[in-house]
Amino acid sequence: MLAEYRRVEEQGLYTGFYAAAWDGYDKYRAMLERLSRGGWPHPYVVPGETLFIIEGDRVVGEVYLRFALTPELQEGGGNVGYQVRPSARGRGYATEALRLALDRLRDVGLREALITCDHDNVASIRVIEKCGGRRIADSHLANKRRYVAMLNEAANCEGR
Ligand SMILES: CC(C)(COP(=O)(O)OP(=O)(O)OC[C@H]1O[C@@H](n2cnc3c(N)ncnc32)[C@H](O)[C@@H]1OP(=O)(O)O)[C@@H](O)C(=O)NCCC(=O)NCCS
Repeated sequence: MLAEYRRVEEQGLYTGFYAAAWDGYDKYRAMLERLSRGGWPHPYVVPGETLFIIEGDRVVGEVYLRFALTPELQEGGGNVGYQVRPSARGRGYATEALRLALDRLRDVGLREALITCDHDNVASIRVIEKCGGRRIADSHLANKRRYVAMLNEAANCEGR
C-alpha cells in the first residue's frame, strides 16, 4: 500500500507518528500498539485502536479510532480517521469502515463521535454524511469542518 501512496505522491498520510510505516510493518505495528495504549505526553495521543481494511489478501486502508478527545482533537482529528488506498477508492470501503467504527465507538461507551475533515475533501464529506454525520461549528483550524454522529442513531445510516 505504501508503494502505491509513494507512486501517486500521497505521502502526506504517513507523517508524524505514522511515518514509522516507511520503516516496515513491524515498526509500524509496534508504534500503533504503543499509540493504542495512549498516555504519550502528546495532545493528539489518547487510547484507541487502528484497524486495517482488508480486501482478499491485501490491505486497502486503515481506520483510526480515538476513544477520548483532547482540546486539540476537538479541533482536528476527532474520534475517527480513515484512509483508503487510491486504487480501492469509490467502492464504499470508507463508508462501511466508518459505519463499523461508529458501532465500535458506541460499544466502548461513547454516545457521540466527532469527525473532522477539510472543506475541500468532498469524498470524505460524502462518507461522513452517509453515516449520519451532522455538521456543527467549524474548527478554529483553517480549512477544517466538524461533524457529530449520534451513536444511538448509527442504525439510521444510509443503506442499513
Ligand atoms: C476519503 C476517502 C477515505 C474515501 O474513501 P472511499 O473508500 O473512496 O469512500 P466511499 O467509496 O465509501 O465513498 C466515497 C463517496 O464520495 C463520493 N466522491 C468521491 N469523490 C468525489 C468527488 N470528487 N466529488 C463528489 N463525490 C465524490 C463517491 O461518489 C462516494 O459517494 P456515493 O457512495 O454517494 O457515490 C479516500 O478518498 C481517501 O483515503 N482519501 C485520502 C485520505 C483522507 O482524505 N481521509 C479522510 C480524512 S477526513
